[in-house]
Amino acid sequence: SSTPGLESPCPAGFRYPGARWRRRRRISLVQLGAPLRCVLHCGPELTTNSMAFATSQVVRGFSSSAVRNVVIKNVTIIGGGQMGAGIAQVAASTGHSVTLVDTSDDILKKSIKTIEGSLKRVVKKKFADKPEAGEEFIKKVVQNVSTSTDVESAVQSSDLVVEAIVENLKIKQDLFSRLDKLAPPHTIFASNTSSLSISDIASSTSRQDRFGGLHFFNPVPMMKLVEVIGTPATSQETLDSLLNFSKVLRKTPVSCKDTFGFVVNRLLVPCIMEAIRLYERGVYACYYNSDASKEDIDIAMKLGAGHPMGPLELADYIGLDIINSVIEGETKDPNNPLFNSSDLLNKLVAEGKLGRKTGEGFFKY
Ligand code: CAA
Repeated sequence: SSTPGLESPCPAGFRYPGARWRRRRRISLVQLGAPLRCVLHCGPELTTNSMAFATSQVVRGFSSSAVRNVVIKNVTIIGGGQMGAGIAQVAASTGHSVTLVDTSDDILKKSIKTIEGSLKRVVKKKFADKPEAGEEFIKKVVQNVSTSTDVESAVQSSDLVVEAIVENLKIKQDLFSRLDKLAPPHTIFASNTSSLSISDIASSTSRQDRFGGLHFFNPVPMMKLVEVIGTPATSQETLDSLLNFSKVLRKTPVSCKDTFGFVVNRLLVPCIMEAIRLYERGVYACYYNSDASKEDIDIAMKLGAGHPMGPLELADYIGLDIINSVIEGETKDPNNPLFNSSDLLNKLVAEGKLGRKTGEGFFKY
């Protein structure tokens, strides 16, 4: 720690790992290297798991083979909706420098408000006894997020671009094809799509080896899982970088092939669709009241299966348009009835009743 230059504060303002931690692992601050020092400075929330991960990354970095994984520090997130804002929040909370991009300043202002609102909920719990430290934490995280409506400049120093825009293949392909010409060669591209093929999106670029899926779950700050999707063209280095990045975010990644619904939606969406069909058919709370109410279906799955939300409440939470885009996904097996559409779902979507985000779906909010 006496080496000149090492005492300068990390841009994220977080402390370096303690001397005891480093001594135990025989790692000096010099060995950590500047980018890793930043990644490691995860502040007050640093967990044992991420410490363990950080150690393994450092050890790998100094093994005989060259470091091939991209150390992700600068993250560009395209799309300031619920998912984009959530991903920006967790990346900024773990010391990344985040640029959040959308088409208008109004949308971006809303995204920052969403991030601040969510951070307040996190802080209420984590800094219950130290409200001032909580305020400071929020300030630092928000400082790590800059916003932009200029996608071209936003990717110029990016290590990773995560796209979380509308579920439309052509629009995603056009976006990535443009970004491909602007981003540095080392930049990894990832899509947060829940219904489209990663290979199809990646085909619009000349960096299919540096392209993968990073599928987060709503609400991103709370849900611990990230599905990391590799296509046949994705390189091992890219997959490793995406898996490592997910761990640095303090999430648990699972690797998935680029197949319809990946893992979670392949299992969750049929459950939601069956709940909608039960409700549509009016099956069977009891013989005298053949209407299985929406509430009964949700209560049954909460109390009988231990789900935190019932399937209809969850559908509203995810967004009925998103559920529809999954079951209409081009890569699904058309002979599989689990993903058949529903008249009721189509009707609600056509009426603009998309769930929580529009104030009404199966329930009113
Ligand atoms: N940011 C920060 N904290 C949040 C939060 C957010 N956006 N949302 C909830 N929380 C926190 C609350 O502050 C609260 O903290 P305390 O326990 O300290 O009070 C805690 O989470 C619980 O929240 P609530 O009391 O408001 O409500 P809850 O107990 O029902 O939990 C929930 C909310 C975490 C969302 C929980 O209901 C849940 O896990 N639901 C299931 C969500 C799910 O399945 N998501 C995946 C959807 S699929 C998807 O996203 C992918 C796709 O492709 C479709």
